[in-house]
Amino acid sequence: MSELPTCRWGIVATGLISSWFVADLVVERDGAKVKHVIQAIGSSSSEKGREFAFKHCPNATPTIYASYTELYSDPDVDCVYIGTPHSFHRQNCLDAIAAGKNILCEKPFAINAREAREVLEAAKKKGVYIAEAMWLRHRPIVADLRKVLFEQHGIGEVSFLSSQYNLPVDVASLPSTSRYRDVKLGAGSLLDVGIYPLTWALVCLDPSDSQNLELPNILAAQTHSSGVEVTTSVILHYASTGRQATILSTFTAAPASNVVCRIHGSKGYIDVTGHDASHPASFTVYREISQGKFEAQEHDYPHPGQGFIYEADNTALDVLAHHTESATMPWAETIRVMEIMDEIRRQGGTVYPQDQA
Ligand SMILES: NC(=O)c1ccc[n+]([C@@H]2O[C@H](COP(=O)([O-])OP(=O)(O)OC[C@H]3O[C@@H](n4cnc5c(N)ncnc54)[C@H](OP(=O)(O)O)[C@@H]3O)[C@@H](O)[C@H]2O)c1
Repeated sequence: MSELPTCRWGIVATGLISSWFVADLVVERDGAKVKHVIQAIGSSSSEKGREFAFKHCPNATPTIYASYTELYSDPDVDCVYIGTPHSFHRQNCLDAIAAGKNILCEKPFAINAREAREVLEAAKKKGVYIAEAMWLRHRPIVADLRKVLFEQHGIGEVSFLSSQYNLPVDVASLPSTSRYRDVKLGAGSLLDVGIYPLTWALVCLDPSDSQNLELPNILAAQTHSSGVEVTTSVILHYASTGRQATILSTFTAAPASNVVCRIHGSKGYIDVTGHDASHPASFTVYREISQGKFEAQEHDYPHPGQGFIYEADNTALDVLAHHTESATMPWAETIRVMEIMDEIRRQGGTVYPQDQA
Protein backbone atom coordinates (compact mmCIF):
# COMPACT_ATOMS: atom_id res chain seq x y z
CA MET A 1 0.00 0.00 0.00
CA SER A 2 1.44 3.39 -0.96
CA GLU A 3 2.12 5.92 1.80
CA LEU A 4 -0.04 9.04 1.79
CA PRO A 5 1.74 12.40 1.53
CA THR A 6 2.07 13.86 5.02
CA CYS A 7 1.63 17.40 6.29
CA ARG A 8 3.12 18.23 9.70
CA TRP A 9 1.18 20.99 11.46
CA GLY A 10 2.36 23.50 14.02
CA ILE A 11 -0.63 24.72 16.04
CA VAL A 12 -0.38 28.28 17.37
CA ALA A 13 -2.56 28.91 20.47
CA THR A 14 -4.56 26.51 22.58
CA GLY A 15 -8.03 28.10 22.52
CA LEU A 16 -11.39 26.81 21.34
CA ILE A 17 -10.80 26.86 17.60
CA SER A 18 -7.42 25.15 17.87
CA SER A 19 -9.08 22.33 19.81
CA TRP A 20 -11.73 21.91 17.10
CA PHE A 21 -9.15 22.03 14.32
CA VAL A 22 -6.80 19.40 15.79
CA ALA A 23 -9.71 17.06 16.55
CA ASP A 24 -10.70 17.15 12.88
CA LEU A 25 -7.13 16.78 11.59
CA VAL A 26 -7.09 13.20 12.81
CA VAL A 27 -10.75 12.35 12.33
CA GLU A 28 -11.54 8.91 10.82
CA ARG A 29 -12.61 9.14 7.17
CA ASP A 30 -12.62 7.22 3.91
CA GLY A 31 -10.56 8.05 0.86
CA ALA A 32 -8.06 10.43 2.51
CA LYS A 33 -5.61 11.95 0.03
CA VAL A 34 -3.26 13.27 2.69
CA LYS A 35 -2.21 12.41 6.22
CA HIS A 36 -2.08 15.07 8.92
CA VAL A 37 0.39 15.03 11.79
CA ILE A 38 0.10 17.32 14.81
CA GLN A 39 3.81 18.04 14.98
CA ALA A 40 4.03 20.91 17.46
CA ILE A 41 1.95 23.13 19.72
CA GLY A 42 2.93 26.74 20.47
CA SER A 43 1.34 28.38 23.49
CA SER A 44 1.86 31.22 25.94
CA SER A 45 2.93 28.58 28.48
CA SER A 46 4.21 25.03 28.35
CA GLU A 47 1.59 23.94 30.92
CA LYS A 48 -1.20 25.13 28.63
CA GLY A 49 0.50 23.46 25.67
CA ARG A 50 0.86 20.16 27.54
CA GLU A 51 -2.70 20.26 28.82
CA PHE A 52 -3.98 20.97 25.29
CA ALA A 53 -1.98 18.06 23.85
CA PHE A 54 -3.18 15.71 26.60
CA LYS A 55 -6.82 16.70 26.14
CA HIS A 56 -7.10 17.19 22.39
CA CYS A 57 -4.27 15.19 20.77
CA PRO A 58 -4.54 11.84 22.58
CA ASN A 59 -2.82 9.83 19.84
CA ALA A 60 -0.08 12.33 19.00
CA THR A 61 3.18 13.37 20.65
CA PRO A 62 3.62 16.97 19.54
CA THR A 63 6.60 19.06 20.59
CA ILE A 64 5.37 21.68 23.07
CA TYR A 65 6.76 25.20 22.82
CA ALA A 66 6.22 27.88 25.45
CA SER A 67 6.29 30.54 22.72
CA TYR A 68 5.02 30.88 19.18
CA THR A 69 8.47 32.01 17.94
CA GLU A 70 10.08 28.70 18.84
CA LEU A 71 7.39 26.86 16.90
CA TYR A 72 8.07 28.98 13.80
CA SER A 73 11.73 27.87 13.96
CA ASP A 74 10.91 24.15 14.08
CA PRO A 75 12.19 22.66 10.79
CA ASP A 76 9.79 19.72 11.17
CA VAL A 77 6.71 21.94 10.85
CA ASP A 78 5.38 22.16 7.27
CA CYS A 79 2.45 24.47 7.95
CA VAL A 80 1.52 26.73 10.85
CA TYR A 81 -2.14 27.02 11.88
CA ILE A 82 -2.90 30.32 13.63
CA GLY A 83 -5.77 30.18 16.12
CA THR A 84 -5.21 33.35 18.16
CA PRO A 85 -7.80 36.19 18.48
CA HIS A 86 -8.13 38.36 15.34
CA SER A 87 -5.95 41.21 16.61
CA PHE A 88 -2.88 38.95 16.76
CA HIS A 89 -3.23 37.45 13.26
CA ARG A 90 -1.16 40.19 11.60
CA GLN A 91 1.85 39.88 13.90
CA ASN A 92 1.65 36.07 14.15
CA CYS A 93 1.59 35.81 10.35
CA LEU A 94 4.43 38.30 9.91
CA ASP A 95 6.58 36.38 12.42
CA ALA A 96 5.82 33.02 10.81
CA ILE A 97 6.51 34.44 7.34
CA ALA A 98 9.86 35.86 8.51
CA ALA A 99 10.76 32.33 9.65
CA GLY A 100 9.79 31.00 6.19
CA LYS A 101 6.72 29.07 7.33
CA ASN A 102 3.59 28.24 5.34
CA ILE A 103 0.43 29.46 7.06
CA LEU A 104 -3.27 28.78 7.48
CA CYS A 105 -4.63 31.71 9.50
CA GLU A 106 -8.07 31.78 11.13
CA LYS A 107 -10.78 34.14 9.97
CA PRO A 108 -11.03 37.08 9.96
CA PHE A 109 -7.61 37.15 8.32
CA ALA A 110 -6.85 40.49 10.00
CA ILE A 111 -8.61 43.43 11.63
CA ASN A 112 -8.78 45.46 8.42
CA ALA A 113 -7.77 45.40 4.76
CA ARG A 114 -4.60 47.40 5.40
CA GLU A 115 -3.29 44.72 7.77
CA ALA A 116 -4.30 41.96 5.34
CA ARG A 117 -2.44 43.63 2.46
CA GLU A 118 0.68 44.04 4.61
CA VAL A 119 0.69 40.33 5.52
CA LEU A 120 0.03 39.14 1.97
CA GLU A 121 2.77 41.42 0.62
CA ALA A 122 5.24 39.95 3.13
CA ALA A 123 4.19 36.39 2.18
CA LYS A 124 4.61 37.20 -1.51
CA LYS A 125 8.13 38.55 -0.92
CA LYS A 126 9.12 35.50 1.11
CA GLY A 127 7.46 33.05 -1.30
CA VAL A 128 5.52 31.14 1.36
CA TYR A 129 1.98 29.76 1.25
CA ILE A 130 -0.64 31.68 3.18
CA ALA A 131 -4.42 31.35 3.26
CA GLU A 132 -7.34 32.55 5.35
CA ALA A 133 -8.99 29.62 7.13
CA MET A 134 -12.46 30.29 5.74
CA TRP A 135 -13.47 26.66 6.22
CA LEU A 136 -17.01 27.21 4.89
CA ARG A 137 -15.70 27.72 1.35
CA HIS A 138 -13.89 24.37 1.40
CA ARG A 139 -17.01 22.36 2.20
CA PRO A 140 -18.26 20.31 -0.76
CA ILE A 141 -21.76 21.75 -0.23
CA VAL A 142 -20.56 25.18 -1.38
CA ALA A 143 -19.05 23.98 -4.67
CA ASP A 144 -22.15 21.86 -5.39
CA LEU A 145 -24.49 24.73 -4.61
CA ARG A 146 -22.58 27.01 -6.97
CA LYS A 147 -22.96 24.37 -9.70
CA VAL A 148 -26.73 24.27 -9.15
CA LEU A 149 -26.92 28.07 -9.22
CA PHE A 150 -24.57 28.98 -12.04
CA GLU A 151 -24.15 25.87 -14.25
CA GLN A 152 -27.51 24.09 -13.95
CA HIS A 153 -29.47 27.32 -13.32
CA GLY A 154 -31.58 25.26 -10.91
CA ILE A 155 -33.63 28.26 -9.74
CA GLY A 156 -33.41 30.26 -12.97
CA GLU A 157 -31.81 33.68 -12.74
CA VAL A 158 -30.50 34.28 -9.20
CA SER A 159 -31.83 37.56 -7.82
CA PHE A 160 -31.33 37.89 -4.05
CA LEU A 161 -30.49 36.06 -0.83
CA SER A 162 -30.73 36.45 2.90
CA SER A 163 -28.39 34.95 5.44
CA GLN A 164 -27.75 35.49 9.11
CA TYR A 165 -25.70 34.25 12.02
CA ASN A 166 -27.13 34.63 15.54
CA LEU A 167 -24.65 33.83 18.28
CA PRO A 168 -26.04 34.77 21.70
CA VAL A 169 -23.19 36.37 23.69
CA ASP A 170 -23.86 38.33 26.88
CA VAL A 171 -21.00 40.74 26.28
CA ALA A 172 -21.56 42.80 29.46
CA SER A 173 -21.19 39.75 31.70
CA LEU A 174 -17.81 38.73 30.25
CA PRO A 175 -14.44 39.61 31.74
CA SER A 176 -12.81 42.67 30.16
CA THR A 177 -10.09 40.37 28.75
CA SER A 178 -12.54 38.24 26.71
CA ARG A 179 -12.09 38.46 22.94
CA TYR A 180 -15.86 39.02 22.75
CA ARG A 181 -15.59 42.03 25.05
CA ASP A 182 -12.24 43.67 24.37
CA VAL A 183 -12.23 45.81 21.22
CA LYS A 184 -8.42 45.70 21.23
CA LEU A 185 -8.84 41.97 20.47
CA GLY A 186 -11.32 42.72 17.66
CA ALA A 187 -14.58 42.16 19.59
CA GLY A 188 -17.77 42.47 17.56
CA SER A 189 -20.29 40.29 15.73
CA LEU A 190 -19.27 41.22 12.17
CA LEU A 191 -15.68 40.01 12.28
CA ASP A 192 -16.58 37.07 14.48
CA VAL A 193 -19.66 35.60 12.78
CA GLY A 194 -20.96 38.15 10.25
CA ILE A 195 -18.16 37.04 7.94
CA TYR A 196 -20.17 33.84 7.27
CA PRO A 197 -23.39 35.43 5.95
CA LEU A 198 -21.08 37.71 3.94
CA THR A 199 -19.38 34.63 2.53
CA TRP A 200 -22.76 33.16 1.51
CA ALA A 201 -23.57 36.41 -0.25
CA LEU A 202 -20.28 36.34 -2.14
CA VAL A 203 -20.31 32.68 -3.16
CA CYS A 204 -24.00 32.53 -4.12
CA LEU A 205 -24.46 35.84 -5.92
CA ASP A 206 -21.13 36.17 -7.67
CA PRO A 207 -19.97 33.45 -10.08
CA SER A 208 -16.79 35.34 -11.00
CA ASP A 209 -13.31 34.02 -10.33
CA SER A 210 -10.57 35.70 -8.32
CA GLN A 211 -9.23 37.58 -11.36
CA ASN A 212 -12.43 39.50 -11.79
CA LEU A 213 -13.97 40.34 -8.42
CA GLU A 214 -16.70 42.94 -8.12
CA LEU A 215 -16.97 45.03 -4.99
CA PRO A 216 -20.72 45.26 -4.27
CA ASN A 217 -22.38 48.48 -3.13
CA ILE A 218 -22.94 48.46 0.63
CA LEU A 219 -25.57 49.91 2.95
CA ALA A 220 -24.93 49.02 6.60
CA ALA A 221 -26.09 49.72 10.15
CA GLN A 222 -24.52 48.55 13.39
CA THR A 223 -25.65 48.56 17.03
CA HIS A 224 -23.24 48.77 19.97
CA SER A 225 -23.56 47.69 23.58
CA SER A 226 -20.89 48.04 26.28
CA GLY A 227 -18.74 49.60 23.54
CA VAL A 228 -18.92 46.44 21.42
CA GLU A 229 -20.68 46.04 18.07
CA VAL A 230 -23.41 43.50 18.79
CA THR A 231 -25.62 43.64 15.68
CA THR A 232 -24.79 44.32 12.05
CA SER A 233 -27.27 44.52 9.17
CA VAL A 234 -26.10 44.98 5.60
CA ILE A 235 -27.58 45.27 2.13
CA LEU A 236 -25.13 44.28 -0.61
CA HIS A 237 -25.94 45.26 -4.17
CA TYR A 238 -24.08 44.10 -7.28
CA ALA A 239 -24.20 46.94 -9.78
CA SER A 240 -23.40 44.63 -12.73
CA THR A 241 -26.26 42.15 -12.20
CA GLY A 242 -28.63 43.94 -9.82
CA ARG A 243 -28.40 40.99 -7.40
CA GLN A 244 -28.86 41.81 -3.73
CA ALA A 245 -28.20 40.25 -0.34
CA THR A 246 -29.44 41.13 3.10
CA ILE A 247 -27.11 39.78 5.74
CA LEU A 248 -27.13 40.02 9.51
CA SER A 249 -24.99 39.03 12.46
CA THR A 250 -25.87 39.46 16.09
CA PHE A 251 -24.80 38.60 19.63
CA THR A 252 -28.24 39.59 20.98
CA ALA A 253 -30.53 36.72 19.96
CA ALA A 254 -30.54 32.97 19.43
CA PRO A 255 -31.29 31.54 15.98
CA ALA A 256 -35.01 31.27 15.24
CA SER A 257 -34.69 28.68 12.47
CA ASN A 258 -32.19 26.30 10.93
CA VAL A 259 -32.30 28.08 7.56
CA VAL A 260 -28.88 29.74 7.43
CA CYS A 261 -29.20 31.08 3.89
CA ARG A 262 -32.13 31.41 1.44
CA ILE A 263 -31.40 32.16 -2.20
CA HIS A 264 -34.16 33.30 -4.56
CA GLY A 265 -34.27 33.04 -8.33
CA SER A 266 -36.74 33.47 -11.16
CA LYS A 267 -37.79 29.78 -11.01
CA GLY A 268 -37.69 29.00 -7.29
CA TYR A 269 -35.53 29.22 -4.21
CA ILE A 270 -32.97 27.27 -2.24
CA ASP A 271 -32.80 26.87 1.54
CA VAL A 272 -29.45 26.03 3.07
CA THR A 273 -29.99 24.53 6.52
CA GLY A 274 -27.66 23.74 9.36
CA HIS A 275 -26.63 24.54 12.91
CA ASP A 276 -25.45 28.00 11.87
CA ALA A 277 -24.10 29.79 8.81
CA SER A 278 -20.67 28.20 9.25
CA HIS A 279 -22.08 24.67 9.70
CA PRO A 280 -24.35 23.98 6.71
CA ALA A 281 -25.67 20.41 6.57
CA SER A 282 -27.92 20.37 3.53
CA PHE A 283 -29.60 22.43 0.86
CA THR A 284 -33.03 21.99 -0.69
CA VAL A 285 -33.92 23.25 -4.12
CA TYR A 286 -37.57 24.38 -4.36
CA ARG A 287 -38.29 24.61 -8.06
CA GLU A 288 -41.56 26.21 -9.07
CA ILE A 289 -43.59 23.75 -11.17
CA SER A 290 -46.72 25.89 -11.38
CA GLN A 291 -47.69 29.16 -9.76
CA GLY A 292 -47.06 28.86 -6.03
CA LYS A 293 -46.32 25.10 -6.26
CA PHE A 294 -42.79 23.87 -5.68
CA GLU A 295 -41.02 20.56 -6.16
CA ALA A 296 -38.37 19.99 -3.47
CA GLN A 297 -35.06 18.22 -3.91
CA GLU A 298 -32.84 17.85 -0.86
CA HIS A 299 -29.06 17.40 -0.93
CA ASP A 300 -27.46 16.25 2.32
CA TYR A 301 -23.81 16.67 3.28
CA PRO A 302 -22.80 14.45 6.17
CA HIS A 303 -19.18 15.19 7.06
CA PRO A 304 -16.49 13.70 9.26
CA GLY A 305 -16.00 15.61 12.53
CA GLN A 306 -17.13 19.24 12.31
CA GLY A 307 -15.97 19.63 8.70
CA PHE A 308 -12.57 21.29 9.14
CA ILE A 309 -10.96 18.41 7.29
CA TYR A 310 -11.82 19.87 3.86
CA GLU A 311 -9.82 23.06 4.43
CA ALA A 312 -7.06 21.06 6.17
CA ASP A 313 -6.76 18.67 3.20
CA ASN A 314 -6.80 21.45 0.60
CA THR A 315 -4.21 23.44 2.54
CA ALA A 316 -1.93 20.44 3.05
CA LEU A 317 -2.11 19.50 -0.63
CA ASP A 318 -1.35 23.13 -1.61
CA VAL A 319 1.62 23.28 0.76
CA LEU A 320 2.99 19.93 -0.41
CA ALA A 321 2.63 21.09 -4.03
CA HIS A 322 4.55 24.31 -3.17
CA HIS A 323 1.66 26.59 -4.08
CA THR A 324 1.61 30.02 -2.47
CA GLU A 325 -2.14 30.59 -2.48
CA SER A 326 -5.38 28.69 -2.17
CA ALA A 327 -7.65 28.41 -5.21
CA THR A 328 -10.61 28.16 -2.81
CA MET A 329 -9.75 31.26 -0.76
CA PRO A 330 -7.38 33.29 -2.93
CA TRP A 331 -5.58 36.38 -1.63
CA ALA A 332 -7.74 38.72 -3.73
CA GLU A 333 -10.85 37.28 -2.08
CA THR A 334 -9.43 37.77 1.41
CA ILE A 335 -8.76 41.41 0.50
CA ARG A 336 -12.28 41.83 -0.93
CA VAL A 337 -13.84 40.41 2.25
CA MET A 338 -11.73 42.70 4.45
CA GLU A 339 -12.54 45.75 2.28
CA ILE A 340 -16.27 45.01 2.49
CA MET A 341 -16.07 44.61 6.28
CA ASP A 342 -14.05 47.87 6.53
CA GLU A 343 -16.80 49.71 4.64
CA ILE A 344 -19.56 48.11 6.77
CA ARG A 345 -17.72 49.26 9.90
CA ARG A 346 -17.15 52.75 8.44
CA GLN A 347 -20.91 53.14 7.90
CA GLY A 348 -21.81 51.42 11.17
CA GLY A 349 -19.35 53.38 13.33
CA THR A 350 -17.16 50.54 14.59
CA VAL A 351 -13.53 51.56 14.97
CA TYR A 352 -10.73 49.34 16.24
CA PRO A 353 -7.48 50.74 17.66
CA GLN A 354 -5.68 49.05 14.74
CA ASP A 355 -7.62 51.26 12.27
CA GLN A 356 -5.86 54.29 13.67
CA ALA A 357 -2.36 52.80 13.61
N1 LIG B 1 -13.45 28.77 11.95
C1 LIG B 1 -14.28 28.82 12.98
O1 LIG B 1 -15.34 28.22 13.00
C2 LIG B 1 -13.90 29.62 14.18
C3 LIG B 1 -14.56 29.37 15.38
C4 LIG B 1 -14.15 30.07 16.51
C5 LIG B 1 -13.13 31.00 16.40
N2 LIG B 1 -12.51 31.23 15.20
C6 LIG B 1 -11.44 32.23 15.09
O2 LIG B 1 -10.31 31.74 15.80
C7 LIG B 1 -9.67 32.79 16.52
C8 LIG B 1 -9.55 32.38 17.98
O3 LIG B 1 -10.84 32.19 18.53
P1 LIG B 1 -11.09 31.24 19.81
O4 LIG B 1 -12.55 31.23 20.03
O5 LIG B 1 -10.38 29.96 19.67
O6 LIG B 1 -10.39 32.12 20.95
P2 LIG B 1 -9.99 31.66 22.41
O7 LIG B 1 -10.71 30.42 22.80
O8 LIG B 1 -10.10 32.86 23.26
O9 LIG B 1 -8.45 31.26 22.27
C9 LIG B 1 -7.50 32.12 21.76
C10 LIG B 1 -6.10 31.62 22.16
O10 LIG B 1 -5.17 32.57 21.64
C11 LIG B 1 -4.07 32.72 22.53
N3 LIG B 1 -3.89 34.13 22.92
C12 LIG B 1 -2.77 34.83 22.77
N4 LIG B 1 -2.90 36.04 23.27
C13 LIG B 1 -4.14 36.14 23.76
C14 LIG B 1 -4.86 37.17 24.45
N5 LIG B 1 -4.31 38.36 24.73
N6 LIG B 1 -6.11 36.91 24.82
C15 LIG B 1 -6.68 35.73 24.56
N7 LIG B 1 -6.02 34.71 23.92
C16 LIG B 1 -4.77 34.92 23.54
C17 LIG B 1 -4.37 31.84 23.74
O11 LIG B 1 -3.63 30.62 23.57
P3 LIG B 1 -2.23 30.33 24.28
O12 LIG B 1 -2.33 30.91 25.66
O13 LIG B 1 -2.11 28.89 24.24
O14 LIG B 1 -1.15 31.03 23.48
C18 LIG B 1 -5.85 31.54 23.65
O15 LIG B 1 -6.18 30.30 24.19
C19 LIG B 1 -10.50 34.06 16.26
O16 LIG B 1 -9.87 34.84 15.28
C20 LIG B 1 -11.83 33.54 15.75
O17 LIG B 1 -12.44 34.40 14.80
C21 LIG B 1 -12.87 30.55 14.11
